[in-house]
Amino acid sequence: MDMLVIRGGQPLRGTVTVGGAKNAALPIMAATLAATGTTVLHGVPELVDVSTLSQVLRSLGMTVERRAGGALELTVTDDQPCFADYELVRRMRASVCVLGPMLGRRRRACVSLPGGCNIGHRPIDLHLKGLRALGAEIRIERGYVFARADVLRGADIYLGGSFGSTVTGTCNVMSAAVFAEGTTTISAAACEPEVVDLGNFLNAMGAKIEGLGTPLLKIEGVQELSAVEHEVIPDRIEAATLLVAGAITRGELEVANIRPEHLSAVIDSLRAAGATVELHGTRARVSMNTAPRPIDVTALPYPGIPTDVQAQLTALLAMADGISVVTDKVFPDRFMHLPELMRMGANVRREGACGIISGVARLSGACVMASDLRASAALLLAALAADGESVIRRIYHLDRGYDRLEQKLNLVGANIRRVTDAPENLPASLHLSTEEEAVPTVETSDVPPAPKFLSHPSASRQHELKDTARHG
Ligand code: UD1
Repeated sequence: MDMLVIRGGQPLRGTVTVGGAKNAALPIMAATLAATGTTVLHGVPELVDVSTLSQVLRSLGMTVERRAGGALELTVTDDQPCFADYELVRRMRASVCVLGPMLGRRRRACVSLPGGCNIGHRPIDLHLKGLRALGAEIRIERGYVFARADVLRGADIYLGGSFGSTVTGTCNVMSAAVFAEGTTTISAAACEPEVVDLGNFLNAMGAKIEGLGTPLLKIEGVQELSAVEHEVIPDRIEAATLLVAGAITRGELEVANIRPEHLSAVIDSLRAAGATVELHGTRARVSMNTAPRPIDVTALPYPGIPTDVQAQLTALLAMADGISVVTDKVFPDRFMHLPELMRMGANVRREGACGIISGVARLSGACVMASDLRASAALLLAALAADGESVIRRIYHLDRGYDRLEQKLNLVGANIRRVTDAPENLPASLHLSTEEEAVPTVETSDVPPAPKFLSHPSASRQHELKDTARHG
Protein backbone atom coordinates (compact mmCIF):
# COMPACT_ATOMS: atom_id res chain seq x y z
CA MET A 1 0.00 0.00 0.00
CA ASP A 2 1.17 3.53 -0.74
CA MET A 3 1.10 6.70 1.30
CA LEU A 4 1.70 10.32 0.40
CA VAL A 5 4.42 12.41 2.03
CA ILE A 6 3.71 16.11 1.65
CA ARG A 7 5.94 19.02 2.52
CA GLY A 8 3.55 21.91 3.06
CA GLY A 9 3.85 25.64 2.79
CA GLN A 10 4.43 26.13 -0.95
CA PRO A 11 2.01 28.52 -2.70
CA LEU A 12 0.77 26.85 -5.88
CA ARG A 13 1.40 28.81 -9.07
CA GLY A 14 0.79 27.95 -12.70
CA THR A 15 -1.85 26.19 -14.75
CA VAL A 16 -3.43 22.84 -14.03
CA THR A 17 -5.94 21.04 -16.25
CA VAL A 18 -9.04 19.22 -15.07
CA GLY A 19 -9.88 15.77 -16.49
CA GLY A 20 -13.19 14.14 -17.36
CA ALA A 21 -15.82 13.71 -14.64
CA LYS A 22 -15.72 10.41 -12.78
CA ASN A 23 -19.36 10.67 -11.77
CA ALA A 24 -20.45 11.25 -15.37
CA ALA A 25 -18.14 8.62 -16.86
CA LEU A 26 -19.38 5.82 -14.58
CA PRO A 27 -23.13 5.93 -15.37
CA ILE A 28 -22.33 6.59 -19.05
CA MET A 29 -20.09 3.53 -19.16
CA ALA A 30 -22.86 1.53 -17.47
CA ALA A 31 -25.41 2.77 -20.04
CA THR A 32 -23.33 1.31 -22.88
CA LEU A 33 -24.69 -2.06 -21.74
CA ALA A 34 -27.84 -1.00 -23.57
CA ALA A 35 -26.16 0.10 -26.82
CA THR A 36 -25.88 -1.70 -30.11
CA GLY A 37 -22.41 -1.29 -31.64
CA THR A 38 -19.17 0.14 -30.29
CA THR A 39 -19.28 3.20 -28.05
CA VAL A 40 -16.25 5.50 -28.02
CA LEU A 41 -15.87 7.66 -24.92
CA HIS A 42 -13.39 10.52 -24.66
CA GLY A 43 -12.31 12.07 -21.40
CA VAL A 44 -12.84 9.02 -19.20
CA PRO A 45 -10.33 9.52 -16.37
CA GLU A 46 -7.83 6.79 -15.49
CA LEU A 47 -9.06 5.83 -12.06
CA VAL A 48 -9.43 2.74 -9.95
CA ASP A 49 -13.24 3.22 -10.05
CA VAL A 50 -13.16 3.18 -13.86
CA SER A 51 -11.11 -0.05 -13.83
CA THR A 52 -13.54 -1.59 -11.36
CA LEU A 53 -16.58 -0.73 -13.48
CA SER A 54 -14.74 -2.00 -16.59
CA GLN A 55 -14.36 -5.35 -14.81
CA VAL A 56 -18.05 -5.37 -13.92
CA LEU A 57 -18.97 -4.63 -17.55
CA ARG A 58 -16.64 -7.37 -18.84
CA SER A 59 -18.33 -9.81 -16.47
CA LEU A 60 -21.61 -8.73 -18.12
CA GLY A 61 -20.51 -9.65 -21.65
CA MET A 62 -18.73 -6.49 -22.80
CA THR A 63 -15.29 -5.66 -24.11
CA VAL A 64 -13.78 -2.51 -22.64
CA GLU A 65 -10.50 -1.26 -24.06
CA ARG A 66 -8.43 1.87 -23.64
CA ARG A 67 -7.08 2.94 -27.05
CA ALA A 68 -3.80 4.80 -27.64
CA GLY A 69 -4.74 8.45 -27.17
CA GLY A 70 -6.96 7.60 -24.22
CA ALA A 71 -10.41 6.93 -25.71
CA LEU A 72 -12.35 4.10 -24.13
CA GLU A 73 -14.12 1.68 -26.47
CA LEU A 74 -16.98 -0.44 -25.19
CA THR A 75 -18.88 -3.13 -27.07
CA VAL A 76 -21.51 -5.64 -26.01
CA THR A 77 -20.42 -9.04 -27.30
CA ASP A 78 -22.85 -11.18 -25.32
CA ASP A 79 -26.16 -9.80 -24.04
CA GLN A 80 -27.07 -12.82 -21.93
CA PRO A 81 -25.13 -12.30 -18.66
CA CYS A 82 -27.08 -10.41 -16.00
CA PHE A 83 -25.19 -11.12 -12.81
CA ALA A 84 -23.02 -8.43 -11.16
CA ASP A 85 -21.06 -10.17 -8.44
CA TYR A 86 -20.61 -8.87 -4.87
CA GLU A 87 -16.82 -9.27 -5.14
CA LEU A 88 -16.76 -6.55 -7.78
CA VAL A 89 -19.70 -4.39 -6.70
CA ARG A 90 -18.53 -4.12 -3.09
CA ARG A 91 -15.40 -2.29 -4.32
CA MET A 92 -17.43 0.58 -5.72
CA ARG A 93 -20.98 1.68 -4.99
CA ALA A 94 -21.43 3.20 -8.45
CA SER A 95 -21.47 -0.36 -9.88
CA VAL A 96 -25.16 -0.22 -9.01
CA CYS A 97 -25.52 1.98 -12.12
CA VAL A 98 -25.61 -1.20 -14.25
CA LEU A 99 -29.01 -2.09 -12.77
CA GLY A 100 -31.16 0.31 -14.84
CA PRO A 101 -29.55 -0.20 -18.28
CA MET A 102 -29.38 -3.98 -17.80
CA LEU A 103 -33.02 -4.23 -16.76
CA GLY A 104 -34.05 -1.91 -19.59
CA ARG A 105 -32.21 -3.79 -22.31
CA ARG A 106 -31.94 -7.36 -21.04
CA ARG A 107 -35.13 -7.35 -18.98
CA ARG A 108 -33.45 -8.99 -16.03
CA ALA A 109 -30.66 -8.05 -13.69
CA CYS A 110 -29.09 -9.52 -10.62
CA VAL A 111 -26.83 -6.98 -8.94
CA SER A 112 -25.22 -7.20 -5.55
CA LEU A 113 -26.37 -4.57 -3.06
CA PRO A 114 -23.40 -2.24 -2.67
CA GLY A 115 -23.20 -2.40 1.12
CA GLY A 116 -21.85 0.09 3.65
CA CYS A 117 -19.83 3.20 3.06
CA ASN A 118 -17.79 5.57 5.17
CA ILE A 119 -19.76 8.67 4.26
CA GLY A 120 -22.98 7.41 5.82
CA HIS A 121 -26.10 5.40 5.18
CA ARG A 122 -26.60 4.97 1.43
CA PRO A 123 -29.74 3.00 0.64
CA ILE A 124 -31.00 2.36 -2.91
CA ASP A 125 -34.70 2.28 -2.02
CA LEU A 126 -35.47 5.13 -4.45
CA HIS A 127 -33.75 3.31 -7.34
CA LEU A 128 -35.91 0.26 -6.62
CA LYS A 129 -39.07 2.33 -6.18
CA GLY A 130 -38.57 3.88 -9.63
CA LEU A 131 -37.86 0.55 -11.34
CA ARG A 132 -40.87 -1.08 -9.66
CA ALA A 133 -43.06 1.79 -10.89
CA LEU A 134 -41.95 0.88 -14.43
CA GLY A 135 -43.29 -2.62 -13.84
CA ALA A 136 -40.19 -4.50 -12.70
CA GLU A 137 -40.55 -7.30 -10.19
CA ILE A 138 -37.83 -6.81 -7.64
CA ARG A 139 -36.79 -8.91 -4.69
CA ILE A 140 -33.78 -8.78 -2.43
CA GLU A 141 -32.25 -12.11 -1.54
CA ARG A 142 -28.86 -13.15 -0.22
CA GLY A 143 -27.52 -9.62 -0.60
CA TYR A 144 -28.55 -9.27 -4.24
CA VAL A 145 -31.22 -7.28 -6.06
CA PHE A 146 -33.08 -9.60 -8.44
CA ALA A 147 -35.02 -7.55 -11.00
CA ARG A 148 -37.01 -8.71 -14.00
CA ALA A 149 -39.65 -7.31 -16.28
CA ASP A 150 -41.06 -8.93 -19.41
CA VAL A 151 -42.45 -5.51 -20.29
CA LEU A 152 -41.55 -2.10 -18.88
CA ARG A 153 -44.34 0.48 -19.01
CA GLY A 154 -44.04 4.25 -18.72
CA ALA A 155 -45.18 5.69 -15.37
CA ASP A 156 -45.25 8.89 -13.32
CA ILE A 157 -42.52 8.53 -10.74
CA TYR A 158 -41.65 10.77 -7.80
CA LEU A 159 -38.00 10.16 -6.93
CA GLY A 160 -37.47 12.56 -4.01
CA GLY A 161 -36.30 11.21 -0.68
CA SER A 162 -35.61 12.49 2.83
CA PHE A 163 -32.29 13.96 1.64
CA GLY A 164 -33.51 15.34 -1.68
CA SER A 165 -33.00 13.83 -5.11
CA THR A 166 -30.80 10.84 -5.89
CA VAL A 167 -28.08 11.11 -8.52
CA THR A 168 -27.40 7.48 -9.39
CA GLY A 169 -31.06 6.65 -8.69
CA THR A 170 -32.12 9.13 -11.39
CA CYS A 171 -29.49 7.63 -13.73
CA ASN A 172 -30.79 4.10 -13.13
CA VAL A 173 -34.47 4.89 -13.55
CA MET A 174 -33.84 7.12 -16.58
CA SER A 175 -31.72 4.42 -18.26
CA ALA A 176 -34.46 1.81 -17.78
CA ALA A 177 -37.35 4.16 -18.68
CA VAL A 178 -35.72 4.81 -22.05
CA PHE A 179 -36.90 1.30 -22.99
CA ALA A 180 -40.35 1.49 -21.34
CA GLU A 181 -43.46 1.49 -23.52
CA GLY A 182 -45.08 4.94 -23.59
CA THR A 183 -44.22 7.98 -21.53
CA THR A 184 -42.44 8.18 -18.19
CA THR A 185 -42.18 11.28 -16.06
CA ILE A 186 -39.67 11.52 -13.23
CA SER A 187 -40.26 14.33 -10.78
CA ALA A 188 -37.72 15.36 -8.13
CA ALA A 189 -35.11 14.09 -10.59
CA ALA A 190 -31.50 14.98 -9.79
CA CYS A 191 -30.30 18.03 -11.76
CA GLU A 192 -26.56 17.36 -11.39
CA PRO A 193 -24.50 18.00 -14.56
CA GLU A 194 -23.45 14.33 -14.52
CA VAL A 195 -27.11 13.27 -14.89
CA VAL A 196 -27.47 15.75 -17.76
CA ASP A 197 -24.36 14.31 -19.43
CA LEU A 198 -25.79 10.80 -19.18
CA GLY A 199 -29.12 12.05 -20.58
CA ASN A 200 -27.38 13.79 -23.49
CA PHE A 201 -25.45 10.59 -24.19
CA LEU A 202 -28.65 8.51 -24.17
CA ASN A 203 -30.38 11.05 -26.44
CA ALA A 204 -27.46 10.95 -28.87
CA MET A 205 -27.95 7.17 -29.00
CA GLY A 206 -31.62 7.59 -29.88
CA ALA A 207 -33.40 8.06 -26.55
CA LYS A 208 -36.09 10.72 -26.16
CA ILE A 209 -35.54 12.49 -22.84
CA GLU A 210 -36.74 16.04 -22.22
CA GLY A 211 -36.17 18.32 -19.25
CA LEU A 212 -32.56 17.37 -18.51
CA GLY A 213 -31.11 19.64 -15.83
CA THR A 214 -34.56 20.26 -14.34
CA PRO A 215 -36.35 18.24 -11.63
CA LEU A 216 -38.97 17.06 -14.16
CA LEU A 217 -37.93 14.60 -16.83
CA LYS A 218 -40.18 13.32 -19.60
CA ILE A 219 -39.07 10.17 -21.38
CA GLU A 220 -40.65 8.54 -24.45
CA GLY A 221 -39.69 4.89 -24.73
CA VAL A 222 -37.70 3.63 -27.74
CA GLN A 223 -36.83 0.14 -29.02
CA GLU A 224 -33.11 0.47 -29.48
CA LEU A 225 -30.07 2.62 -28.72
CA SER A 226 -27.21 2.83 -31.22
CA ALA A 227 -23.66 3.37 -30.01
CA VAL A 228 -22.11 6.83 -30.48
CA GLU A 229 -18.92 8.75 -29.76
CA HIS A 230 -19.16 11.01 -26.71
CA GLU A 231 -16.94 13.40 -24.73
CA VAL A 232 -17.45 13.26 -20.96
CA ILE A 233 -17.88 16.65 -19.22
CA PRO A 234 -15.01 18.05 -17.11
CA ASP A 235 -14.94 16.99 -13.47
CA ARG A 236 -16.42 19.83 -11.41
CA ILE A 237 -15.32 18.18 -8.16
CA GLU A 238 -11.71 17.94 -9.28
CA ALA A 239 -11.96 21.55 -10.47
CA ALA A 240 -13.31 22.65 -7.08
CA THR A 241 -10.57 20.72 -5.27
CA LEU A 242 -7.91 22.48 -7.38
CA LEU A 243 -9.48 25.89 -6.81
CA VAL A 244 -9.38 25.28 -3.05
CA ALA A 245 -5.74 24.15 -3.45
CA GLY A 246 -4.87 27.52 -4.99
CA ALA A 247 -6.67 29.39 -2.22
CA ILE A 248 -5.51 27.35 0.77
CA THR A 249 -1.83 27.62 -0.25
CA ARG A 250 -2.26 31.39 -0.79
CA GLY A 251 -1.08 30.85 -4.34
CA GLU A 252 -2.21 31.94 -7.78
CA LEU A 253 -3.52 29.01 -9.75
CA GLU A 254 -5.19 28.78 -13.12
CA VAL A 255 -7.57 25.84 -13.43
CA ALA A 256 -8.21 24.94 -17.07
CA ASN A 257 -10.94 22.86 -18.73
CA ILE A 258 -13.81 23.81 -16.47
CA ARG A 259 -17.48 24.62 -17.01
CA PRO A 260 -17.85 27.70 -14.78
CA GLU A 261 -21.64 27.28 -14.74
CA HIS A 262 -21.16 23.93 -12.95
CA LEU A 263 -19.11 25.62 -10.24
CA SER A 264 -21.24 28.67 -9.37
CA ALA A 265 -21.86 27.75 -5.72
CA VAL A 266 -18.23 26.78 -5.10
CA ILE A 267 -16.88 29.94 -6.72
CA ASP A 268 -19.37 32.02 -4.74
CA SER A 269 -18.17 30.43 -1.49
CA LEU A 270 -14.53 30.94 -2.37
CA ARG A 271 -15.17 34.60 -3.12
CA ALA A 272 -17.15 34.99 0.12
CA ALA A 273 -14.16 33.50 1.94
CA GLY A 274 -11.92 36.18 0.43
CA ALA A 275 -10.41 34.45 -2.60
CA THR A 276 -10.22 36.25 -5.92
CA VAL A 277 -11.66 34.07 -8.67
CA GLU A 278 -11.50 35.37 -12.25
CA LEU A 279 -13.24 33.52 -15.03
CA HIS A 280 -11.99 33.46 -18.61
CA GLY A 281 -14.07 31.09 -20.76
CA THR A 282 -13.24 27.57 -19.64
CA ARG A 283 -10.53 28.72 -17.21
CA ALA A 284 -10.64 30.07 -13.67
CA ARG A 285 -7.80 31.87 -11.95
CA VAL A 286 -7.88 31.74 -8.15
CA SER A 287 -5.65 33.70 -5.82
CA MET A 288 -5.64 34.46 -2.15
CA ASN A 289 -3.14 36.33 -0.04
CA THR A 290 -4.75 36.55 3.39
CA ALA A 291 -6.36 34.17 5.83
CA PRO A 292 -9.81 33.11 4.62
CA ARG A 293 -12.82 34.86 6.06
CA PRO A 294 -15.13 32.51 7.99
CA ILE A 295 -18.28 31.56 6.09
CA ASP A 296 -21.21 29.24 6.60
CA VAL A 297 -21.41 26.51 3.99
CA THR A 298 -24.29 24.09 3.35
CA ALA A 299 -23.91 21.12 1.02
CA LEU A 300 -27.09 20.63 -0.99
CA PRO A 301 -28.16 18.92 -4.21
CA TYR A 302 -27.11 20.80 -7.39
CA PRO A 303 -26.89 23.73 -7.95
CA GLY A 304 -25.94 24.02 -4.26
CA ILE A 305 -22.48 23.35 -2.91
CA PRO A 306 -21.74 19.69 -3.67
CA THR A 307 -21.38 17.37 -0.71
CA ASP A 308 -18.30 16.12 -2.59
CA VAL A 309 -16.63 19.50 -1.95
CA GLN A 310 -17.73 19.89 1.67
CA ALA A 311 -14.58 18.32 3.14
CA GLN A 312 -12.25 20.41 0.94
CA LEU A 313 -13.99 23.67 1.93
CA THR A 314 -13.80 22.55 5.56
CA ALA A 315 -10.01 22.24 5.19
CA LEU A 316 -9.87 25.81 3.85
CA LEU A 317 -12.08 27.16 6.63
CA ALA A 318 -9.94 25.39 9.24
CA MET A 319 -7.48 28.24 8.59
CA ALA A 320 -10.08 31.04 8.53
CA ASP A 321 -10.00 34.11 10.67
CA GLY A 322 -13.01 33.12 12.80
CA ILE A 323 -15.73 30.52 13.10
CA SER A 324 -17.50 28.80 10.22
CA VAL A 325 -20.39 26.35 10.26
CA VAL A 326 -20.32 23.63 7.62
CA THR A 327 -23.55 21.68 7.19
CA ASP A 328 -24.09 18.64 4.99
CA LYS A 329 -27.74 18.11 4.06
CA VAL A 330 -26.98 15.37 1.56
CA PHE A 331 -24.84 13.07 3.70
CA PRO A 332 -25.28 14.34 7.28
CA ASP A 333 -22.67 11.89 8.64
CA ARG A 334 -19.93 12.86 6.24
CA PHE A 335 -17.50 14.29 8.79
CA MET A 336 -14.83 11.60 9.11
CA HIS A 337 -12.21 14.13 8.06
CA LEU A 338 -12.73 16.26 11.18
CA PRO A 339 -10.75 14.11 13.65
CA GLU A 340 -7.89 13.80 11.16
CA LEU A 341 -7.85 17.57 10.57
CA MET A 342 -7.62 17.95 14.35
CA ARG A 343 -4.40 15.91 14.24
CA MET A 344 -3.05 18.73 12.10
CA GLY A 345 -4.04 21.35 14.65
CA ALA A 346 -7.50 22.27 13.37
CA ASN A 347 -10.04 23.33 15.97
CA VAL A 348 -13.20 21.58 14.81
CA ARG A 349 -16.09 19.73 16.33
CA ARG A 350 -19.17 18.06 15.03
CA GLU A 351 -22.73 18.80 16.04
CA GLY A 352 -25.20 16.60 14.18
CA ALA A 353 -25.04 17.39 10.50
CA CYS A 354 -22.71 20.36 11.13
CA GLY A 355 -19.03 20.87 11.61
CA ILE A 356 -18.18 23.90 13.74
CA ILE A 357 -14.84 25.12 12.47
CA SER A 358 -12.90 27.61 14.60
CA GLY A 359 -10.15 28.80 12.32
CA VAL A 360 -6.52 28.60 13.41
CA ALA A 361 -3.63 30.63 12.06
CA ARG A 362 -1.53 27.61 11.17
CA LEU A 363 -1.90 23.88 10.66
CA SER A 364 1.01 21.59 11.45
CA GLY A 365 2.05 18.56 9.44
CA ALA A 366 1.05 15.20 10.93
CA CYS A 367 0.39 11.56 10.06
CA VAL A 368 -3.25 11.24 9.08
CA MET A 369 -5.52 8.54 7.72
CA ALA A 370 -7.86 8.95 4.75
CA SER A 371 -11.34 7.57 5.41
CA ASP A 372 -12.98 8.17 2.03
CA LEU A 373 -12.40 9.78 -1.33
CA ARG A 374 -13.18 13.44 -0.65
CA ALA A 375 -11.85 13.27 2.92
CA SER A 376 -8.49 12.27 1.42
CA ALA A 377 -8.61 15.32 -0.83
CA ALA A 378 -9.34 17.53 2.18
CA LEU A 379 -6.38 16.09 4.09
CA LEU A 380 -4.13 16.60 1.09
CA LEU A 381 -5.22 20.24 0.84
CA ALA A 382 -4.65 20.79 4.56
CA ALA A 383 -1.21 19.15 4.24
CA LEU A 384 -0.30 21.47 1.34
CA ALA A 385 -0.98 24.45 3.59
CA ALA A 386 0.44 23.03 6.82
CA ASP A 387 3.84 23.78 8.28
CA GLY A 388 6.27 20.89 7.91
CA GLU A 389 5.69 17.42 6.56
CA SER A 390 2.52 15.33 6.59
CA VAL A 391 1.82 11.73 5.76
CA ILE A 392 -1.53 10.57 4.38
CA ARG A 393 -2.23 6.87 4.67
CA ARG A 394 -4.90 4.76 2.92
CA ILE A 395 -4.63 6.87 -0.21
CA TYR A 396 -6.31 4.14 -2.24
CA HIS A 397 -9.40 6.25 -1.52
CA LEU A 398 -7.81 9.17 -3.38
CA ASP A 399 -6.85 6.92 -6.31
CA ARG A 400 -10.47 5.86 -6.69
CA GLY A 401 -11.49 9.34 -7.76
CA TYR A 402 -8.58 11.58 -8.77
CA ASP A 403 -6.53 11.03 -11.91
CA ARG A 404 -2.83 11.66 -11.07
CA LEU A 405 -3.69 14.45 -8.61
CA GLU A 406 -0.28 14.52 -6.95
CA GLN A 407 1.52 14.79 -10.31
CA LYS A 408 -0.74 17.68 -11.33
CA LEU A 409 -0.14 19.47 -8.03
CA ASN A 410 3.63 18.89 -8.17
CA LEU A 411 3.73 20.57 -11.59
CA VAL A 412 2.42 23.78 -10.00
CA GLY A 413 4.76 23.81 -7.03
CA ALA A 414 3.56 21.21 -4.54
CA ASN A 415 6.01 18.83 -2.91
CA ILE A 416 4.25 15.46 -2.73
CA ARG A 417 5.94 12.05 -2.81
CA ARG A 418 4.18 8.71 -3.17
CA VAL A 419 6.02 6.02 -1.22
CA THR A 420 5.29 2.57 0.15
CA ASP A 421 3.56 2.72 3.49
CA ALA A 422 6.41 1.48 5.68
CA PRO A 423 7.92 2.83 8.91
CA GLU A 424 11.26 3.55 7.20
CA ASN A 425 9.50 5.89 4.77
CA LEU A 426 8.09 8.11 7.49
CA PRO A 427 9.78 11.51 7.36
CA ALA A 428 12.27 12.01 10.19
CA SER A 429 10.33 15.09 11.32
CA LEU A 430 7.32 12.89 12.15
CA HIS A 431 9.31 10.06 13.69
CA LEU A 432 9.37 10.97 17.36
CA SER A 433 11.69 8.78 19.42
CA THR A 434 10.47 6.96 22.53
CA GLU A 435 12.22 9.49 24.80
CA GLU A 436 10.69 12.38 22.90
CA GLU A 437 7.26 10.81 23.20
CA ALA A 438 7.73 10.20 26.94
CA VAL A 439 9.19 13.65 27.63
CA PRO A 440 7.74 16.28 25.31
CA THR A 441 10.87 18.41 25.14
CA VAL A 442 11.20 18.61 21.38
CA GLU A 443 13.07 21.61 20.04
CA THR A 444 10.54 24.38 19.77
CA SER A 445 11.90 25.32 16.36
CA ASP A 446 10.82 21.88 15.05
CA VAL A 447 7.26 22.19 16.19
CA PRO A 448 4.80 24.76 15.01
CA PRO A 449 3.32 26.85 17.78
CA ALA A 450 0.08 25.67 19.28
CA PRO A 451 -2.86 26.77 17.15
CA LYS A 452 -3.83 30.33 17.83
CA PHE A 453 -7.57 30.87 17.91
CA LEU A 454 -8.22 34.12 16.23
CA SER A 455 -11.59 34.78 17.63
CA HIS A 456 -14.15 33.13 19.85
CA PRO A 457 -17.87 32.96 19.28
CA SER A 458 -19.93 35.52 21.07
CA ALA A 459 -22.65 34.17 23.35
CA SER A 460 -25.31 34.97 20.76
CA ARG A 461 -23.25 33.39 17.96
CA GLN A 462 -22.71 30.27 20.08
CA HIS A 463 -26.43 30.08 20.62
CA GLU A 464 -26.99 30.41 16.88
CA LEU A 465 -24.47 27.64 16.14
CA LYS A 466 -26.14 25.30 18.57
CA ASP A 467 -29.50 26.17 17.12
CA THR A 468 -28.25 25.44 13.60
CA ALA A 469 -26.76 22.17 14.77
CA ARG A 470 -30.01 21.12 16.39
CA HIS A 471 -32.40 22.02 13.60
CA GLY A 472 -30.17 21.59 10.52
C1 UD1 B 1 -23.67 10.40 -6.14
C2 UD1 B 1 -22.20 10.58 -6.37
C3 UD1 B 1 -21.50 10.96 -5.08
C4 UD1 B 1 -22.17 12.19 -4.47
C5 UD1 B 1 -23.68 11.98 -4.34
C6 UD1 B 1 -24.41 13.23 -3.90
C7 UD1 B 1 -21.77 9.10 -8.21
C8 UD1 B 1 -21.10 7.87 -8.70
N1 UD1 B 1 -21.66 9.36 -6.90
O1 UD1 B 1 -23.82 9.33 -5.22
O2 UD1 B 1 -20.13 11.25 -5.37
O3 UD1 B 1 -21.63 12.41 -3.18
O4 UD1 B 1 -24.23 11.60 -5.61
O5 UD1 B 1 -24.20 14.27 -4.81
O6 UD1 B 1 -22.34 9.84 -8.97
N2 UD1 B 1 -30.71 8.24 -0.86
C9 UD1 B 1 -31.80 7.56 -0.37
N3 UD1 B 1 -32.32 6.54 -1.10
C10 UD1 B 1 -31.82 6.18 -2.30
C11 UD1 B 1 -30.72 6.88 -2.81
C12 UD1 B 1 -30.18 7.91 -2.08
O7 UD1 B 1 -32.27 7.87 0.72
O8 UD1 B 1 -32.35 5.24 -2.92
C13 UD1 B 1 -30.12 9.34 -0.10
C14 UD1 B 1 -28.65 9.12 0.23
O9 UD1 B 1 -28.49 8.35 1.39
C15 UD1 B 1 -28.15 10.54 0.37
C16 UD1 B 1 -28.97 11.29 -0.67
O10 UD1 B 1 -30.12 10.50 -0.92
O11 UD1 B 1 -28.46 11.02 1.65
C17 UD1 B 1 -28.25 11.56 -1.97
O12 UD1 B 1 -27.70 10.33 -2.45
P1 UD1 B 1 -27.46 10.03 -3.99
O13 UD1 B 1 -27.66 11.27 -4.78
O14 UD1 B 1 -28.24 8.83 -4.38
O15 UD1 B 1 -25.92 9.66 -4.01
P2 UD1 B 1 -25.26 8.65 -5.01
O16 UD1 B 1 -26.00 8.68 -6.29
O17 UD1 B 1 -25.02 7.35 -4.36
